[in-house]
Amino acid sequence: MMYDRLEKNISNVRNHLLEFNLISLFLCAISFYFIDTYMTVNLSHLLREIGKAFGSIAAVCAGICLSYYIFREIYVHNGKSLSTSINNIAKKLLTILRLSHPILGILMFYLIVLHGSTMVLSESKYWASIFIFGIITAAISFLLMIIGMNINKSKALRQYHKILSFFFIIGYLGHIFLRF
Ligand code: HEM
Ligand code: HEM
Repeated sequence: MMYDRLEKNISNVRNHLLEFNLISLFLCAISFYFIDTYMTVNLSHLLREIGKAFGSIAAVCAGICLSYYIFREIYVHNGKSLSTSINNIAKKLLTILRLSHPILGILMFYLIVLHGSTMVLSESKYWASIFIFGIITAAISFLLMIIGMNINKSKALRQYHKILSFFFIIGYLGHIFLRF
């Protein structure tokens, strides 16, 4: 019962992705306005922490997006050997992950925009590689969103989406671990 309601609610949002995207854009713009207006230089430490939090939540969203694909692959290859009750739970989990995937992906993109702009506003000194990989990964996340919202229009788009998600991971690892 609770599961049915959850599935219905997520489906409702998923069926209105464009509206969801516009609302997220609006909220992102408002948040940016307040951050830019009220976070003065002496609050730069707080600004940095808020920026980091945006980045971390975006990374969690990306992780859940990715887990849909990984979980689906495991299920497709090993699903037959599961008992009926475990199979039912796995199917439900997979449905929730599939339905929430584009929603979390869009949220991720706007969190990345807020993260990047907040880190730049905080005017702290960082390695150039953090910015280089950050901007490349943010650009990839934009393409992932645009392609993801049109993924059913052609087989090639699905393939590009998958390849880009691989480069997203590489870019993210470069952003977090490389320093030069
Ligand atoms: C728009 C381009 C980006 C810029 C300018 C940027 C900037 C930064 C900076 C300066 C830091 C260093 C924070 C520190 O070590 O104190 C950072 C950390 C981080 N960034 Fe980005 N970033 C960008 C894109 C991204 C993307 C695409 C992701 C992927 C989700 C991401 C996720 C993170 C995470 C998880 C951290 C670590 C946060 C922490 O230490 O708690 N960033 N970013
Ligand atoms: C940014 C917004 C995003 C949107 C709108 C989006 C949308 C979609 C949609 C509609 C599907 C098809 C789901 C299905 O099988 O029914 C899909 C599949 C997929 N997505 Fe995304 N996605 C986004 C972000 C991401 C991110 C951040 C990643 C990973 C880093 C990712 C990785 C994948 C993968 C690997 C697939 C499976 C492709 C295949 O079927 O071969 N997506 N996405």
